[in-house]
Amino acid sequence: MRRYCSIILCIVMTLCLVCSGCRKDNGNENANDLFVIGFSQVGSESDWRIANTRSMMETFTNDKGYELIIQNAKQQQDNQLADVRGFVLEGVDLIIIAPTVETGWENVLKEVHDAGIPVIILDRSVAVWDSNLYLTNIGSDFLEQGRRAVDWLDKQVSESVDGQETLKILHLQGTYGSTAQLMRTKALEEGVEEHKDWVIVSQLDGDFTEAKGYEVVSEYLSSNNDFDVLYSENDNMTFGAMRALDEAGITYGENGQVRIITFDASRDALQYCLDGKIDLCVECNPMSGPMVEELIKDYRAGEDIPRQVYVEEAIFTKDDLTQAMIDARPY
Ligand code: AHR
Repeated sequence: MRRYCSIILCIVMTLCLVCSGCRKDNGNENANDLFVIGFSQVGSESDWRIANTRSMMETFTNDKGYELIIQNAKQQQDNQLADVRGFVLEGVDLIIIAPTVETGWENVLKEVHDAGIPVIILDRSVAVWDSNLYLTNIGSDFLEQGRRAVDWLDKQVSESVDGQETLKILHLQGTYGSTAQLMRTKALEEGVEEHKDWVIVSQLDGDFTEAKGYEVVSEYLSSNNDFDVLYSENDNMTFGAMRALDEAGITYGENGQVRIITFDASRDALQYCLDGKIDLCVECNPMSGPMVEELIKDYRAGEDIPRQVYVEEAIFTKDDLTQAMIDARPY
């Protein structure tokens, strides 16, 4: 009899331990009443990405009633799929996904939906048939960013290369299949379509990293150096490309052989712009944490939230900048 009692006691204690480890209590909050958010982040490939992660960490703090679990996917979608499934098993209250690429999300989003966990898509977008699989998509209007760059190129640079037959553009692309790459590329290709005297001399895959930007531009410059504009889809690739240009003895910026357009407008890029080394910085705003929090608050209060939210962004040339602005830049 004593033996049976201790077995029963063991089972009861095990059940108690399992239950106290469960995140959900009353179907919504964990044992400490924290709202648990699983955040699948692309990686840490750029200054932009690091600033975005920081913005989320600074926003979703324990003090404010959140537990933020961040998984770094190291720029691999397979890692993200596993991370999101892990969040479902943990029973988090909400999942935020910053997707590496647009496609391949249908199945996992259905699984999350079936588990009754709301999803917010952050930064980039996903291409799924059923847009009810997520609550909202908050991030940049990447096509608009690209169009702003093309518009600037049209107004400023076309004039200064008058007399030449063509404007030759070297195109450094970010991670293939990501919204940031697809839309910035689309805008440039549209611009080239509309300008018979513009030509893309080459499209290089820099995967949004400084190391890859340096590598592919160095390789390109070993056999070609005839271009007027570098259209680089993020700042870190631009910094790598600038190093490659320095080594090849090619000058750039306001008094150089090559004009540079870069995306993100991080503090370092703006400094180069003020110093006359970069011609145009197109802003991509990573400080989206507070806006995401507002959406989550509205959702939890039972209010309708918009299906698509764009963050505010601008463009900068040297004339728009002061040292004080750059010093005060949060990223
Ligand atoms: O999706 C935003 C892009 O991703 C940023 O331009 C880039 O720096 C980042 O890695």
